[in-house]
Amino acid sequence: MSDKTTLTELAEKKAAGERIVMVTAYDYPTARLADEAGLDLVLVGDSAAMTVLGHDSTVPATMDEMVMLTRAAARGARRPLLIADMPFGSFQVSDEDALRNAIRFVKEAGADAVKLEGAGTSLSRVRAIVAAGVPVMGHVGLTPQSATMLGGLRAQGRTATAALQLLDAARSLEAEGCFAVVLEAVPAQVAARITEALSVPTIGIGSGPDCDGQVLVLHDLVGLYHGRSGRFVKRYADVGGTIREALERYAVDVRGGAFPAEEHTYSIPEDELALFEAGVSGSRGE
Ligand code: KIV
Repeated sequence: MSDKTTLTELAEKKAAGERIVMVTAYDYPTARLADEAGLDLVLVGDSAAMTVLGHDSTVPATMDEMVMLTRAAARGARRPLLIADMPFGSFQVSDEDALRNAIRFVKEAGADAVKLEGAGTSLSRVRAIVAAGVPVMGHVGLTPQSATMLGGLRAQGRTATAALQLLDAARSLEAEGCFAVVLEAVPAQVAARITEALSVPTIGIGSGPDCDGQVLVLHDLVGLYHGRSGRFVKRYADVGGTIREALERYAVDVRGGAFPAEEHTYSIPEDELALFEAGVSGSRGE
């Protein structure tokens, strides 16, 4: 029997005040590590466009790229619920498009659920996908796919009117059937009120301590992202520094002849070597 995290367990965690832990992962080894560390949710975020594909924003991520990354992560994330992030262009055009792409994530990539950004037209997309039996996570506040419209990568909901709009958006996503809603870069007090108002869990990123759960981008968390991280990021390791140092030591060893050493090298029995040498001489006509 699978011990995959269920939507019911997430709802129970909210009811019990137990925090939900989510992280992004974009490949087999890191999804597996998230599983081994006991995390509840793994998101194959479209942040992959920046963290692993080297783009300046999340916008260029394509469905094919996201399906490939999700498929790899699915092999590692056995217990955490695996959520695939719908990239820009995969759900904006129509409900049919959104549904077709959500189904790709489930059928081709092994995702358990999908996430999509925004409210507005996203609401009917959520309705269509949920009606087809695919769980959907909402995402409001700073929605990086529409950063230009939002005035850049900046906190949202900092006026009473904007905060009420966020509350309304989160409630609408819940009403359309989202099983959880990400609140990104929302003032802590506003996120706390939205969390109270919803019956489904909120997952915060840069939205204070009172959300039902937290998510961070793995590459920010472990120090593997080359760009600037948000001020809400806490870095728990310097994996980038560790890898760089290992590569520098490797280069020194190869250039200096210290690697490979005898223990890294295969040998051939003496008698076979002698026959081989004789064969080489014979083949040269010596
Ligand atoms: O793409 C992503 O990593 C995300 C998280 C920041 C929530 O959407």
